[in-house]
Amino acid sequence: MQRLDKILSSAGAGTRKELRAAIRAGRVTVNGSVCRDESAKFDETSAQILLDGEPVELLRPALILLNKPAGYLTAADDPRQKTVMDLIPARYRRFGVMPVGRLDKDTEGLLLLTNDGNLAHRIISPKHGVWKTYYCEHDGEATAADVEAFAKGLLLPDGLSCLPAVLLPLGFGRSAVRLQEGKFHQVKRMFEAVGKKVLYLKRISMGPLVLPEDLAPGAYRKLTAEELAALKNEQPKRNED
Ligand code: URA
Repeated sequence: MQRLDKILSSAGAGTRKELRAAIRAGRVTVNGSVCRDESAKFDETSAQILLDGEPVELLRPALILLNKPAGYLTAADDPRQKTVMDLIPARYRRFGVMPVGRLDKDTEGLLLLTNDGNLAHRIISPKHGVWKTYYCEHDGEATAADVEAFAKGLLLPDGLSCLPAVLLPLGFGRSAVRLQEGKFHQVKRMFEAVGKKVLYLKRISMGPLVLPEDLAPGAYRKLTAEELAALKNEQPKRNED
């Protein structure tokens, strides 16, 4: 429970002084009734608040699923380049929403953004080993030996060892890859280790979340309650069945 003026100012609806004046003037409706008392307390997670008849989006845990296009940095901020934050409304930045993990500038696909630090940590922590699936186009064909090398756990030329991963050749220089880690350029480096160059990379799933087919590159939507519940209940296994 929080004071009405505090709830509104956390939501970026104005300064405390402006908001107090608006409340006293009867311009604020909470759960269907005008409230003229700035110190009245409401549940900030469920209150429906209108200012001048317009709904105020409150600072609540936000989980956004973005179809990241190529050409955008996965960063909260950058002085020179476009970032994924430029693809979502500015108010989310004020609410502390940040990308969860990272996709390279030229990688497309499913990227989560949230202000729920605990959930973000759970998704990216190697301890939890959430499975991620990528669609990949590369030069040459993935071979049975490559499949085996991925399954055993690759040792990269720089000495980095990878957990066992699933490589599924799709023919015509295309593959799907499933892995539980998110090290820097990991998929590209794994293919490089078996002599192939990645030409196109797109993340198509992360744990129980699947990139919706109707979400255009650059478009986003909030997670549904079902998706959020599935993500919170996710119990990744160390080895695939
Ligand atoms: N692996 C990569 O090489 N790049 C990405 O963006 C994600 C996984």
